[in-house]
Amino acid sequence: MGAVPPSAGSAGQSPLSVPNREVLERLGQIAHRLGTRSFLVGGPVRDSILGRASPDLDIAVEEGSREFGAAVARELGGRFVYHSRFMTGTVLFDRPQASGLKPRAAKSGPSSLSHIDITQTRAETYELPAVLPMVRPASIVGDLGRRDFTINAMAMEITPGSFGAFIDPFDGRADLAQRCVRVLHARSFIDDPTRILRCIRFAVRLGFAVEQQTLGLLRSAVDQRLPAFLTPERILYELRLICAEPLAVPMVKMLIRERVLDAAWRWTPPPGFVGNVARLARQAKSLGTVPGAAAPQSGTVPGFRQAELLFIYWLSVLPVTDRFPIRKEERAAAEAIAGFHKLKPKLKRKLRPSEVYKILRSVPEPALAALAALETSAVNVKIRAFLASYSKVRIATTGADLRGAGLEPGPAFREILDELLFARLDGRIRTVTEERNLLRQLARPRTTDA
Ligand code: CTP
Repeated sequence: MGAVPPSAGSAGQSPLSVPNREVLERLGQIAHRLGTRSFLVGGPVRDSILGRASPDLDIAVEEGSREFGAAVARELGGRFVYHSRFMTGTVLFDRPQASGLKPRAAKSGPSSLSHIDITQTRAETYELPAVLPMVRPASIVGDLGRRDFTINAMAMEITPGSFGAFIDPFDGRADLAQRCVRVLHARSFIDDPTRILRCIRFAVRLGFAVEQQTLGLLRSAVDQRLPAFLTPERILYELRLICAEPLAVPMVKMLIRERVLDAAWRWTPPPGFVGNVARLARQAKSLGTVPGAAAPQSGTVPGFRQAELLFIYWLSVLPVTDRFPIRKEERAAAEAIAGFHKLKPKLKRKLRPSEVYKILRSVPEPALAALAALETSAVNVKIRAFLASYSKVRIATTGADLRGAGLEPGPAFREILDELLFARLDGRIRTVTEERNLLRQLARPRTTDA
């Protein structure tokens, strides 16, 4: 694999050295039993020709995607979720290794297959720009014709007897060889302006050029502000995907250069935006990719994924509205980053650990992880110390101990527990005995008052 073979017309033997061959053969057999042809389509075909690993297995059947998905789930031990409006579904495997594949198919099967995406070959009609299309059944060639780019519009048949037949009506293989992203037709970005963001993502990810005419169409769609017709949900979905890409930073740059979010939301980046995105991506890399992972060494912050850090930072500078479908935690983290300038002057002073703790304890942890990368040294050192150390300090005293010391539950509980924690943080107490002694002192006047 690796080098792209010369284009051999629209159909022929597959140029793919197929990963997951046994799994694909098994899926082809299941479809065949149900009386339909089946295909590997889109991204995995593109990636196999390029010799890139593909995380997905996208299968299209010409008929009965619902029955096919249900049969696959039954036979391979997964769970099938179906969306009838689009005739698409996903077979989900609870454990990443599809255990059901093992008995017959897993010898060269995927080691980490978590799902299989299933579609029914279909054509689409876009009644209005940027609105989700009406779909109707179609042949595989009709289905490839509704797709975004030539490099994503190739299929390999997996039907027994025709396994490996390559279907490439738009000569995607030639565009792979020429390393360019090209739309299938002139209305592509009008029908679906999310393709503007997809085009940038694929071009940068693969190191491809955007083909000249395609670039003209993309720019014309932006000039007409077609992205403004998209729901926030659809744009945010694309932004999340970009944030998760290893080459997110050049993608963000291109998105800005092509003024895509200006067209969508009249948004232009604040000064330093791209530099901050780059800083966050570097921070995530140096911290590993496990969310909430233990700090690798003291003085460093817990690991957050790049996708998370970049996305909440982006939200913090975007004109977020109630219509943005984002999680409560994401909204809170973005607001904390945006409002951090109010806390910052306090953090610039010389402070005891307990004072740093009081200032930062209400700031969500992902926001702090982002701020640790964005802020300069004096402040950044304190945020890192809070994340890696202060926030992990615990006291031995519990509510039961306070009741045992004669205190009634109430606000005084919190105050005493805080006092003990602050004393621990500042090193005024170091042992459980010292903590008990301080508790007795703190409890005394209050029990006398009561
Ligand atoms: N597709 C499209 N237009 C869109 C979204 C998707 O034509 N707006 C088609 C493309 O053929 C694409 C396929 O649906 O290859 C699957 O979509 P997706 O999983 O988003 O794309 P992949 O190519 O698999 O991308 P990735 O490598 O990022 O998973």
